[in-house]
Amino acid sequence: MRPSKRLDLIPPYLFAQLEKKIADKKAAGIDVISLGIGDPDTPTYAPIVAAMQRAVADPGTHQYPSNRGRQDFRAAVAAFYQRRFGVTLDADSEVMPAIGAKECIFNLSLAFLDPEDIALASDPGYPVYTGGPLLAGAGAVLMPLKPELGFAPDLDAISDADAERAKLLFINYPNNPTGAIVPDGFFEQVVAFAKRHDILVVHDNAYSETTYDGYVAPSFLATPGAKEVGVEVFSLSKGYNMTGWRAAAIVGNADAIAAYWKLKSNVDSGLFEAVQLAAVEALSTEVDKDVAAMNAVYTRRRDLVVEALRQAGVEVTAPKGTIYVWAPIPAGYENSAAYCEHVLEQAAVVISPGGAYGASGEGFFRISLTTPDERLVEAVERIKQLG
Ligand SMILES: Cc1ncc(COP(=O)(O)O)c(C=O)c1O
Repeated sequence: MRPSKRLDLIPPYLFAQLEKKIADKKAAGIDVISLGIGDPDTPTYAPIVAAMQRAVADPGTHQYPSNRGRQDFRAAVAAFYQRRFGVTLDADSEVMPAIGAKECIFNLSLAFLDPEDIALASDPGYPVYTGGPLLAGAGAVLMPLKPELGFAPDLDAISDADAERAKLLFINYPNNPTGAIVPDGFFEQVVAFAKRHDILVVHDNAYSETTYDGYVAPSFLATPGAKEVGVEVFSLSKGYNMTGWRAAAIVGNADAIAAYWKLKSNVDSGLFEAVQLAAVEALSTEVDKDVAAMNAVYTRRRDLVVEALRQAGVEVTAPKGTIYVWAPIPAGYENSAAYCEHVLEQAAVVISPGGAYGASGEGFFRISLTTPDERLVEAVERIKQLG
């Protein structure tokens, strides 16, 4: 057996490796608390489950779905974008379902990159922004997110050569892993940069519905000119507790969506229609109160974690969005991986090393808030006791 050389270019997926470690420890009777992956711990909201139950009982949903998606799914996404973000979308040409944002982001690299091309990728960032281009046989150039710029990249620092070779630019706000929200004026800068260099912007909108303290996250597409240069990948995973269902949509530039459709129709056969119907329910106003209640839970957990870390002398900013707290590792560790390994071995708590999200994430760790309050408190106490 000889796997491709391409596969050697990427590291094993962080959470796939961790799963094994956690399973081994649990099998050895150790009480492991995982604050690693961002996977909501509470059930999908009841109206969505009920819609799925109805949909799955209808044999009309059982056959191959079309990659273009059901008309009612596309209309529901367009209506949601209008009411939620003030963005007008043509449901026929500017909306398509995806089997999760991860699939969509990966397939955009296959659809847009040739070997001589690069993607500009937020650093730290969701690993697929770099893994996707490499698996597509192209390159990725990291754009460090600058704390002093509100965790935005400095677009002026991108060399002309990189800007000319770049065909894709991946950004994400509210941001995983830093928890940052988009700084004022940044999306406008991105539109101008993308127009100047003929780049497709991919705004990964995985966390717009998961925000706190009254903050309401915008869509990139609400920025003037954004639809000419970009697409947004909207995921239902986090905001609706639907990680296991695999439900997302790509919205925005019609030509980019047509290219994605051409690629995708050769790769998979579309999103299960019953899941599309459940997503229609998720995007209705019926579910708004569930989203608000969930965000109240995350606000409470965020405050618990931030307070405990501050008591332990860790300087940490309370995020206004996402399900993550991003904090500096204590002094005395070689790197974030060494610190996280130490916490796992000594406290049986899983946290994510910032370096796994890119070079600029080094020196930080990420805590996911998707664990019940008591366990979260216990985990942070264990970390505090390590000193
Ligand atoms: C920034 C970001 N994008 C995309 C995803 C994946 O979303 P999905 O479940 O829709 O594939 C995640 C999941 O953690 C994420 O953090």
